[in-house]
Amino acid sequence: EPHSSVPSSTSSLSVDAQSLQKQIDELSSFSDTPAPSVTRVLYTEKDVLARRYVKNLMGLAGLSVREDAVGNIFGRWDGHEPELAAVATGSHIDAIPYSGKYDGVVGVLGAIEAINVLKRSGFKPRRSLEVILFTSEEPTRYGISCLGSRLLAGSESLAKALKTTTDSQNISFLETAKSAGYAKDEDDLSSVFLKKGTYSAFVELHIEQGPILEEEGISIGIVTAIAAPASLKVEFEGNGGHAGAVLMPNRNDAGLAAAELALAVEKHVLESGSIDTVGTVGILELHPGAINSIPSKSHLEIDTRDIDENRRNQVIDKIHQSAIRISKTRGVKLSEFHIVNQDPPALSAEVVIKAMETATRELNLTSKLMISRAYHDSLFMARLSSMGMIFIPCYKGYSHKPEEFASIQDISNGVKVLALTLAKLSLQ
Ligand code: GLV
Ligand code: MN
Ligand code: MN
Ligand code: MN
Repeated sequence: EPHSSVPSSTSSLSVDAQSLQKQIDELSSFSDTPAPSVTRVLYTEKDVLARRYVKNLMGLAGLSVREDAVGNIFGRWDGHEPELAAVATGSHIDAIPYSGKYDGVVGVLGAIEAINVLKRSGFKPRRSLEVILFTSEEPTRYGISCLGSRLLAGSESLAKALKTTTDSQNISFLETAKSAGYAKDEDDLSSVFLKKGTYSAFVELHIEQGPILEEEGISIGIVTAIAAPASLKVEFEGNGGHAGAVLMPNRNDAGLAAAELALAVEKHVLESGSIDTVGTVGILELHPGAINSIPSKSHLEIDTRDIDENRRNQVIDKIHQSAIRISKTRGVKLSEFHIVNQDPPALSAEVVIKAMETATRELNLTSKLMISRAYHDSLFMARLSSMGMIFIPCYKGYSHKPEEFASIQDISNGVKVLALTLAKLSLQ
């Protein structure tokens, strides 16, 4: 039986920082908007090219590559007890419009480099190690976040909904999936579901997307919990009409209903009294969208989150009550109030936290326990296995904008902690 142990000397863990930086830069060039911004939306040509790039790197790292019906990509390094549940790591490479090049990417390219680090150190895993590229962590195209990991975790409702889901251009999910080479002959996406116990642990490396680590000069964030996200779609329908001819008392302006609801979202969030409650109206569309036409329809998409699920749910209820009240007082129809997702928070597992803490200590890096206010595929992987996340500092906490930046030194630290954590978990 092959002998394996955690790399005895942490100095044998060396990250090829130069190659990793080059890969991050190259991947960022698969974008539909000019640098430094990155826009890489699910199943577009750029997304397909970026996926090919990552699969190639997985192959070069000696991983065997598998893809499922929605394009979750798995790169596997067989352990010497391959029948045991594997240890997995990974993140996403899709990028919301005009965002940056580190969100998600660090956890995919960094994971492949962590495998390379372990291979170079001579480590042999007991449990197999798997790198996962998750499909569409961002909700950009089909409105649902963590599409790939949500399905892996067995969401029947999503598998069903995706059969009829279309994007803003009315192109169906299945059609775009097929054009990207997925969903080949099966319209039944339940083939993507994984059994509980497929993985013994899942660890995701990610930029913090907040300012704490940088401000406090700490190298590694050890995530203990992920806040509970929810998103809503709301539509109002009024009468519209001529912006000059229809007098103010005779209007049922759907645009003003939307504006009023947007302010109500902020009010209800602040009413919670907790700094952990947040709400955003990131999409607000008016129809027909002409300067001299009263909006006859409006469409809002609302994101709200909290580490406390009940408090988050109270905000959703209040937003609903406000939408009903506004529709009455303004004489517009509330034609849609749809909760797209209303997810519980997730807790990291003690065993994974322990492994991450020990790894960080052995590498002589400073660390801090923290919560993740952003959501991640880890939120759903926690339904399948023990979960944990490693955060690294990023410039001013910037994310979801082109100024997003993490230094290669911080990324390399994260990769080392990930490598050592995977090694430990693979032997457990
Ligand atoms: C992830 O992108 C999030 O919005 O938290
Ligand atoms: Mn993101
Ligand atoms: Mn992300
Ligand atoms: Mn709509």
